[in-house]
Amino acid sequence: MKLDRAGLTGLLQADDAAFAPVFERAGEVCRAQFGDTVRIRALLEFSNHCKRRCRYCGLNCANTALPRFRLTPDDMVHTALEAARCGYQTIVLQSGEDPFFTPDLLASIVGRIKRAAPGLAVTLSCGEFPAEAYRRFRDAGCDRYLLKHETADPDLYAALHPDSSLEERVGCLRAIKAAGLEAGGGFMVGLPGQTAQTIADDLLLLQSIPCDMAGIGPFLPHPDTPLGAEQPGSASLTLRAVALARLLLPQANLPVTTALGVLDPQAAGRVYEGGGNVVMRKVTPPHLRKLYQIYPASFPETTIEEGRRALEQSLRARGKIPV
Ligand code: 5AD
Repeated sequence: MKLDRAGLTGLLQADDAAFAPVFERAGEVCRAQFGDTVRIRALLEFSNHCKRRCRYCGLNCANTALPRFRLTPDDMVHTALEAARCGYQTIVLQSGEDPFFTPDLLASIVGRIKRAAPGLAVTLSCGEFPAEAYRRFRDAGCDRYLLKHETADPDLYAALHPDSSLEERVGCLRAIKAAGLEAGGGFMVGLPGQTAQTIADDLLLLQSIPCDMAGIGPFLPHPDTPLGAEQPGSASLTLRAVALARLLLPQANLPVTTALGVLDPQAAGRVYEGGGNVVMRKVTPPHLRKLYQIYPASFPETTIEEGRRALEQSLRARGKIPV
């Protein structure tokens, strides 16, 4: 099995029978690395304000139909501590690119959380910053930074992201690594104009960084965006992309993305058999979860504690050990 550009493209296009051994192998590599454990993370969406106009994303600033919210730093710290109390060992703080949250403010929030809960790993996911900001986050105690590259095709990237380039994006990922943070990358499967070769390039880009984590999810059309009338990405192609990412990056954390769970819950369950070892649960204040509308979806408005318990139960029912 050759995992170069041509080999990956061929495997992404192969028929199901030809791909089955690859999927199985990805599961073996994952088990050798993580056993039956699945790492669970708390996800706190703290602002849905965004200055960007990404054509696929419901948070883009041209979407005037979406009510916007922003948590206070006190509420963020409080929620992070509640997540830690409920057993989470990692919190992901995610937002749109909201100029209200300057690097200084984000660093101070991370610092407050780390002082109050030193054992809680903190991941930021708030978009692009100058290299200096990523170093400041690290100095404040931040452990990881998530920034998906979205697509490795520079022309498609430019078409989807007005006023920004793939080069800048990859530059940010390298700056994140250089700052000593773990880097989370990732991309969407099924973007209009994407080909199997693009996905092969996406996978090789993850490896070249190299990413410590990679979120790979299907594109889901949001009606209030310019891509609202397009078709969603394929669940089975998403499963293949995750399996190939596992073979290219045996030690990486590969989440079962929320987007795949929304598109096809059964396929999402299968990711655990083909390379996935991470899952995130929203700890965003329940009434705000539906407003973090990257793509259309509804989420249970359960408490942090109830959500965690339900997740642990569903993992155990699959024979997995939540950690
Ligand atoms: N469909 C699927 N995923 C999306 N994202 C943004 N918009 C969409 C969409 N319409 C993903 C991007 C982004 C992450 C926060 O959500 O990969 O990085």
